[in-house]
Amino acid sequence: MDTASRPEPEGSGRIDEKSVGREPGLHTWLVGALAIARYHGIDLDPSTFRLDPAIPVPSPAVLVEWVREQGMWAKAVRLKWQQLLRLETSGPVMLLMKDGGAVLVVEADAVKNVVFVKEPTIGGGGVAVPVDELRLSQVWDGEVVLLRPQRSDSDEDAPLSFGFLTKLVMMERSILRSIAFSSFIITFLTIIPILFVFSSVQRIIEYHSMSTLLLIVIIMVIVTIMDAILEHARGSLLQVVSTRIDAKIQLYVFKRVLALPLDYFERNQTGVIGQAISKIYQIREFITGRLLTTFIDGTMLLVMLPIMFFMSPTLSWTIVAAAGLIMLVIAVFLRPIRILSGKVSAAESRKFSVLVETLHGIKTVKSLALESARYSAWDEYVAQAGDLRLQAGRLALWPATLTIPLQRYCQYGVILLGAYIAVTSKSQAEIGSMMAFTLISMRVASPLISFAKLIQDFEDVRATMAEAQAVLNNPPEIRGIDRGLRPAFEGAIEFDGVSFTYQGSQRPALDDVQFSVPPGTMLGLVGRSGSGKSTVTRLLQGISRDYTGFVKIDGVELRSINLRHLRRNFGVVLQENFLFRGSIRDNIIGGRPGLTMEDVVRAARLAGAEEFIERLPAGYDTFIQEGSPNLSGGQRQRIAIARALIVDPKLMILDEATSALDPESEALVNANLKRIGAGRTMVIVSHRLASLVDCNAIIVMDKGTVLDVGTHAELVERCSVYRMLWLQQNRHLTENQGNTRHGSPTPVLAQGD
Ligand SMILES: Nc1ncnc2c1ncn2[C@@H]1O[C@H](COP(=O)(O)OP(=O)(O)OP(=O)(O)O)[C@@H](O)[C@H]1O
Ligand SMILES: [Mg+2]
Repeated sequence: MDTASRPEPEGSGRIDEKSVGREPGLHTWLVGALAIARYHGIDLDPSTFRLDPAIPVPSPAVLVEWVREQGMWAKAVRLKWQQLLRLETSGPVMLLMKDGGAVLVVEADAVKNVVFVKEPTIGGGGVAVPVDELRLSQVWDGEVVLLRPQRSDSDEDAPLSFGFLTKLVMMERSILRSIAFSSFIITFLTIIPILFVFSSVQRIIEYHSMSTLLLIVIIMVIVTIMDAILEHARGSLLQVVSTRIDAKIQLYVFKRVLALPLDYFERNQTGVIGQAISKIYQIREFITGRLLTTFIDGTMLLVMLPIMFFMSPTLSWTIVAAAGLIMLVIAVFLRPIRILSGKVSAAESRKFSVLVETLHGIKTVKSLALESARYSAWDEYVAQAGDLRLQAGRLALWPATLTIPLQRYCQYGVILLGAYIAVTSKSQAEIGSMMAFTLISMRVASPLISFAKLIQDFEDVRATMAEAQAVLNNPPEIRGIDRGLRPAFEGAIEFDGVSFTYQGSQRPALDDVQFSVPPGTMLGLVGRSGSGKSTVTRLLQGISRDYTGFVKIDGVELRSINLRHLRRNFGVVLQENFLFRGSIRDNIIGGRPGLTMEDVVRAARLAGAEEFIERLPAGYDTFIQEGSPNLSGGQRQRIAIARALIVDPKLMILDEATSALDPESEALVNANLKRIGAGRTMVIVSHRLASLVDCNAIIVMDKGTVLDVGTHAELVERCSVYRMLWLQQNRHLTENQGNTRHGSPTPVLAQGD
């Protein structure tokens, strides 16, 4: 959040010719992308570009995905020469050549019919040469990659609002226009036969003209067929529009949810969040269903109403007045209904939370036989929600009931009135036009009534919207993800006077924490429960960013580092790790591109998981179910460690990663710690001091402050808290073996590598 307001770091020169020079095989496309990004003042990190080993040639899609990952906007398109000439972009455009190379178009001259191209270089040097259509077409068949900085007002960043949704809908305006147009035609097609029949009925009756009747029948048949075809076309257009809008809204919502910071999820009940998000379907339905049909009805009214007024102003006015009255009745009930539905919604959320929580903790519920307690909680909330729903339903019945007479008037009453006028006027023409009018008005009545009811539906959606907004419009964690530095990490960590208090908490979790370690350190964190160890690791990962003081990695303040870049360079293993449904291999790869089976095996070996995985019947293809019930805690943990290790992170955090393990698995992991730690900085939080004796430095924390920093030997010597903890945990050693303080009490199994 902080970095979002900071100005873009001026060409920090992270990827200069020198670093690119280190990778002589850098693909031309990549160089092109880097050059365009550089033109916009953004440095992309080419080392993060990985190819799927199965398809070692980059495709435009892979390139675009990578650029987007790095926080820029990118798109692969096919362009014709004319489009290329008229292309309006603020920077160079990359053409992908037939031979697999790339050139940058830096300028276009439509008058001379040439574009200026040059070879991509990172520094932006080189001369642009003019090329005409013929020459270009020999080497280029239209493939183009467009790149630009992410606009801060891009759709994905826009908060959820009616304005945003309108924009989303209006993006489909060409289809909407077709729908409106076909609606107009359909409306005319329905009116014409009516008018036609009534203007000729008299003649048929008077002159017994069978030929006129036949003509009418033929016209009616033709019109009906045209009507059916058009209705079908309009219907399928409507399906297309609503499906597209629907997909866009759902993608948008999920993206927003993923962008929310972790502590938001910690502060709020999953049930409430889930409920609010799931309600988005109501908004979606309103837009793609109700709003679109209203739109169609609207075009119909636009055609029908003037004709009606032309035929009989008096009757038309009565219908419009009735619709107005319906609106009025609904308006009167809006406020009380809104208040009640707010209560219903809150009650539903509470109910849903009980459900989600119970499912989440079902193991605990079962093992402690808490079913009946959970059931009665559920019972209570069901009753509450049911009560409120009943009240709301009853209240909503009133406007529905009160408007029935008005609705009936629009549908039938107007016919009677029309008949009365026709009879009293005694004019033949009047009778015909009255009959025509009533036929038309019957068609108009229901759209008009549903128009009047639109405010009520809108009101419902507004309430839902407010709920969804309360979740989705929280400040996202990664705002303007292209902001911030992307340094290549070495792994030096420094905390300089860092204090931090959790939101809603009185006591600081960290109080003036001060320490620094060089790259490659194996750093242990010990201290009582609640002393702030996990908080230190959270700050390091950029989960909580509103601390005071400075947290620096390689001397760079953490808040100015690109968040995604930071997390990519961290391997994190917690006490409880979530494994996704899928094979062990997929879990270790975790969907990250460009990783091979060799990487998987290497990571598994380092994590001490190789042996047990190979003993499984299906090996790395063993399928892990949700919640991984087919793995033991230790196995799950080692897979999690492998998952963190596979990207070879420069910084690794193990927060109680081995606490839940049996001594054997713990010993295995601990034995590997040294190997795991080679070439990277490790932060190991552990209650068991035995696993920390090999650390280069151990920080002893107490109540959010650093008590002491030193090696195991030094701390046993001088830090009383540490010595006490050590003695508590290793009494058996001192008693049985007369072990000195310096001896390593690591379990026997862990001794070897
Ligand atoms: N999400 C949170 N919201 C509010 N307070 C928190 C949150 N997480 C931790 N705290 C508080 O911050 C303090 C430090 O917590 P932290 O999790 O860093 O302790 P810890 O040393 O890791 O403890 P443990 O060894 O039990 O894991 C505690 O007092 C805790 O109550
Ligand atoms: Mg902790």
